[in-house]
Parts: sequence; structure tokens; C-alpha cells
Amino acid sequence: MSHKKHRTLFIFGTRPEAIKLCPVVNHLRSRPEFEVSVCVTAQHRALLDQVLAVFEVVPDFDLDLMLPNQTLSQSTSRIVAGLEPVLRSAHPDMVLVQGDTTTTFSGALAGFYQKIPVGHVEAGLRTWDIWQPFPEEMNRLLATRLATLHFAATDWAAGNLYREGVPAERVAVTGNSGIDAVLYVRDKLEQGKLHGLDWPQLDPSRKLIVVTAHRRESFGEGFERICAALARLSERPDVQIVYPVHPNPNVQAPVRRHLTGRPNVLLVDPLEYVPFVDLMRRAWLLITDSGGVQEEGPSLGKPILVLREKTERPEAVQAGTVKLVGTDTECIVREATRLLEDRPEYDRMSRIHNPYGDGHASGRIADLIISFLTTSSSQIFR
Ligand code: UD1
Ligand code: UDP
Repeated sequence: MSHKKHRTLFIFGTRPEAIKLCPVVNHLRSRPEFEVSVCVTAQHRALLDQVLAVFEVVPDFDLDLMLPNQTLSQSTSRIVAGLEPVLRSAHPDMVLVQGDTTTTFSGALAGFYQKIPVGHVEAGLRTWDIWQPFPEEMNRLLATRLATLHFAATDWAAGNLYREGVPAERVAVTGNSGIDAVLYVRDKLEQGKLHGLDWPQLDPSRKLIVVTAHRRESFGEGFERICAALARLSERPDVQIVYPVHPNPNVQAPVRRHLTGRPNVLLVDPLEYVPFVDLMRRAWLLITDSGGVQEEGPSLGKPILVLREKTERPEAVQAGTVKLVGTDTECIVREATRLLEDRPEYDRMSRIHNPYGDGHASGRIADLIISFLTTSSSQIFR
């Protein structure tokens, strides 16, 4: 008896979506029940292509939409319009989106317009403040309303969805597929089957601080304060800072202005995923406003100072390995200094734990898609 394949279309556009969806794409491709296609909006270009290359994912559709210093309205409208003909020609049984970017929201909206059920990976994250992170909190709220199947990484995220009235049978806790990616790379690095960079510039006797920051709500004064803190920390002789700088011009300008030429600060282009995971493994401490880095740090046993006032990922804060420091210069310097000088405090914050997943989210997501698409209840969503 021949079975019809489940046609799934992945839509993504930025680096973090690609890191978290490529493991799912490759898992579905390994299973005979699926016919998989991939559409990239290329909301990011270079950052996205770096990830596609690592996971050997070749998109079936590439909208190539990135503009320099694009506005939110530009990206949203161009993505929604660009996806319409793709969805019409691919007519998948299900669209899959991930996270909370402009591509996530626009992809879910475009799927809804074509009456195609949408599966939302990493559903249910919330800060309950629509301005932090901006516009991601609104993007994830809207994605929840547009989606039919919700893959929550944790029980906490699933609980948020139940409380908003999302039917329980449409919500599943799968773990975060980003943890599939980071644990895979970590294990291969440990086994010597993957390799990072050599970093001849780094002095192993100094404590390495790895920094990333790019959030829109910190543009302007927030970035000035973050850079001032990094400049202060770089004056310590026992410290070295490596900062792969996000290509967004609102990030590049203040970072280059404050930190270029400082002897203990290495400003580098965004790193490919494997060298970046390797660099995090070598770090004493991570300072970041990234969602993904906040999730990866605990799996690598690294303490993290988060450059935000609110996080949608409270699990590691509750476990004591992540601390919110906002963008206040004094607070960043104080907390980083504590982790450089207070060994018991450092040890308390350096525990390996995996609150966000066990590395097997992709398989669970695949099983749930099959079960949804083979039950008659899915018919009403087409
Ligand atoms: C986007 C997401 C954010 C996510 C981040 C991950 C939105 C609203 N924001 O923010 O949630 O955390 O990606 O990195 O979706 N640029 C390049 N090359 C690239 C990528 C970006 O030059 O490969 C520059 C371009 O000038 C571009 C600008 O960065 O216009 C901003 O890109 P955009 O995707 O709009 O926002 P991000 O700040 O990257
Ligand atoms: N990352 C990377 N190279 C870098 C910096 C980050 O590969 O130079 C990875 C990081 O490991 C994580 C993801 O990019 O998986 C996070 O992306 P980003 O911070 O851009 O977005 P966010 O997670 O905040 O949405």
C-alpha cells in the first residue's frame, strides 16, 4: 500500500532560525514519510548563508530580501508578498516557522492567508512586555494566534500557551531544537571530529569573555552603556574579550567607536556556528543579549550575564546560571568582576544543565507533525 508523503515547507530567514530549524529539516529529510522543502526569506544574507553551509541545507526557494538597515515595515511587507507565490506553488500540508523574528510572524501570516496549518517551533516564550524584546514579543504573540501546532521547548512555555487559551491538544513540549544543534556540535568538538579556530591572538593565561549583543531596544544609549562597560572590563590585565560584532549598522557603529584599538578586545566578524560554539567552550564567561546564546550557555556549563532587563527564558535564571544585568554600565562591570574574582560564586554559576532540551527535539517535532497530519482533525485547518 502506498502512503502519501507529508509535504512540509520550512520558512526561515535569520541566523537563529536557521540554527534551530536546520536540525529539524535534516531530521525530516531522513524520514521517508516526509517531502520537505525549504524557503529562505534571507532576511539575513551572510549570517544565514553561514548556517546553511554548516548544515548542508540548500533552499528550494530563496527570496533574497535583505536590504541594508531595513525597517520592520519593509521586511514584513516584502516577506508576506514574496511568500504568496511560493506557498501557492509548493502548496504544502504544513508550514513550519521558528521563534519570533519578522520572518516568523510574516511566514505564519502568509501560511494563514493560504489556509495552510502552521507549526510554530519554540512557541510560548513570553516576557509579557511588548517593548522587551521589541518587536519579538509581539511577533511571538502573533505567531501563536496564527499557528495551529505549537512546539514548546519547556513546560513553562507550554503553560504560557495553555493560560492564553491555546487548546492543550495543539501544544507539545519537545525541547528546543537549538539544543539538538549545540549538543551535536559540542560532542563532535570533544571527539575531535569538528574543529574550531586556532586563535593565536588569545593568551590562555587570561580569562576569556565572549560577548554578543544586537537587540533593537538597546540601540542608542543602551549600546553606549554596554560598550562603556566592556571598555572598563578590558582594562583588567587578567581579561581578554572576544566580540563577534553583528552586522547591523546600529550595532557596528557604537561598538567600533568605543572598542576599536583596545589591546584586550578582539572585535571580529560574526563567526560560523562551529567556531562560535568552540569559542563559547573556551570562555570563562559569556555576556550577551542573545536568546540562543542564553540557551546554549547552560549546556556548555558557562555562566552568562544577560544584557536585558527581562528574559523570556527564565529557567536558567531560576537555576542560578544566568543573571540579568540590563544595560547599566555599573551593574555589568560589578557582576562581571564578581565572576572574575569570586571563585565560589563562579563555581555556583558554572553548572552544566540542560533546561531547554535534551538534543532530541527534532524527532519529537517530526512525530507530532505526522500525528497531526494523519488525524482527521487536521482537515478543518486546510
Ligand atoms: C533579527 C531579528 C532578531 C534576531 C536577530 C538575530 C527581527 C525583527 N529581528 O535582528 O529577533 O534576534 O535577527 O541575529 O526579525 N545585516 C547584514 N547581514 C546579515 C544580517 C544583517 O548586513 O547577514 C544587517 C543589514 O543591514 C540588515 C540589518 O543588519 O538590514 C538588520 O537585520 P534585521 O534582520 O532586520 O534585524 P536584526 O537586527 O538582525
Ligand atoms: N552565533 C554564531 N556566531 C556568532 C554569534 C552567535 O553562530 O558569531 C550563534 C549562537 O551560537 C546562537 C545563535 O547564533 O546559536 C544566536 O543568534 P543571535 O544572537 O543572532 O539571535 P537570537 O538568538 O538572539 O535571536
